[in-house]
Amino acid sequence: MLFKTIRVSETAEGKFDRTIGQMNIEALPPGELLVRVHYSSLNYKDALSASGNKGVTRNYPHTPGIDAAGVIALSRNENFAADEEIIVTGFDLGMNTHGGFSEYIRIPAAWALPKPDAYTLSECMTIGTAGLTAALALYKMELLGQTPAMGPVVVTGATGGVGSLAVAILAKAGYKVIAVTGKENAGEYLEHLGAAHIESRDFVNDLSNKSLIRPQWAGAIDTVGGNTLNTLLKGCMAEGCVVSTGLVGSPLLNTTVYPFIINGVSLAGVGSAETPIALKKKVWEKLAGDWNIRNKLAAIGKEVSLEELNNHYIDAILQGKIMGRIVVKI
Ligand SMILES: NC(=O)c1ccc[n+]([C@@H]2O[C@H](COP(=O)([O-])OP(=O)(O)OC[C@H]3O[C@@H](n4cnc5c(N)ncnc54)[C@H](OP(=O)(O)O)[C@@H]3O)[C@@H](O)[C@H]2O)c1
Repeated sequence: MLFKTIRVSETAEGKFDRTIGQMNIEALPPGELLVRVHYSSLNYKDALSASGNKGVTRNYPHTPGIDAAGVIALSRNENFAADEEIIVTGFDLGMNTHGGFSEYIRIPAAWALPKPDAYTLSECMTIGTAGLTAALALYKMELLGQTPAMGPVVVTGATGGVGSLAVAILAKAGYKVIAVTGKENAGEYLEHLGAAHIESRDFVNDLSNKSLIRPQWAGAIDTVGGNTLNTLLKGCMAEGCVVSTGLVGSPLLNTTVYPFIINGVSLAGVGSAETPIALKKKVWEKLAGDWNIRNKLAAIGKEVSLEELNNHYIDAILQGKIMGRIVVKI
């Protein structure tokens, strides 16, 4: 049986071509679950995989897409039945395993979670890896003792995928959110998601050589890295937690131990792809319960076709031009 999929191929000149074509279902990797994908979503990592980044995807031809939501077409696992709706985020999907920008995927059952009742398949993909990352960040902060009463929490890259969902989830959980953005026209959007204050990127780019600065936030979810992350640590109130999730600014971190040994600040990290499935499940349960953000998802997600994804949005995310999340209807 043939199905529709994006394929990225390497040319003889070492360039990368991206087309929408057909593939035979027998060419999919082995796995217990054959899934008819209904929705996927676009993450920064997908755009890297789709443009030949060998740090993400070693071998081409390849189909990217680290997120997928769909219906089981065939199950060889007792925990999942045919026709069940499931979601997959991360693990090796879309990296070196045929990914979600495709009508079908075949995966190990250990990667799948039943779709939460609180969300549709499309809404699950508006959340996707970005929302799971934001929720894992808050989960870790709270394990380390973060509470809304301690003070405001900064979100950097606030209009991006992780950032938008972090703003919405923190606000829903009762935190006062300081949204940091480089976009001048994002105020209305960020306020709708629940931001209490909006600041420019300079707010968290301290250029003094001080090891500690006046504390103005009690915690942070950072997608930027580099001096932004250093500033978030230097300016964090006592006992607060800063979570590193991304590197859109820089993968480097040059800092001192003073925020840790004077202020008791914690630095936590999220690696959502390889987060154990039991913890992914727990965090999806939070998103379906206390942290339910369903009423914000229409503002965050934009549904596009596989063709629109291929022709425009993959390049746009690499240029930092996306606001919110791109959901792909397959
Ligand atoms: N750890 C994990 O498990 C995990 C999971 C998902 C993503 N990530 C990482 O998290 C980061 C964000 O991913 P995403 O999917 O949210 O990407 P995204 O949708 O492209 O959002 C990134 C946002 O960062 C801001 N930004 C871009 N370039 C910047 C720069 N040079 N300096 C400061 N801010 C900048 C922009 O927001 P504003 O214009 O509003 O400032 C942009 O919209 C990426 O590094 C990604 O690899 C990690």
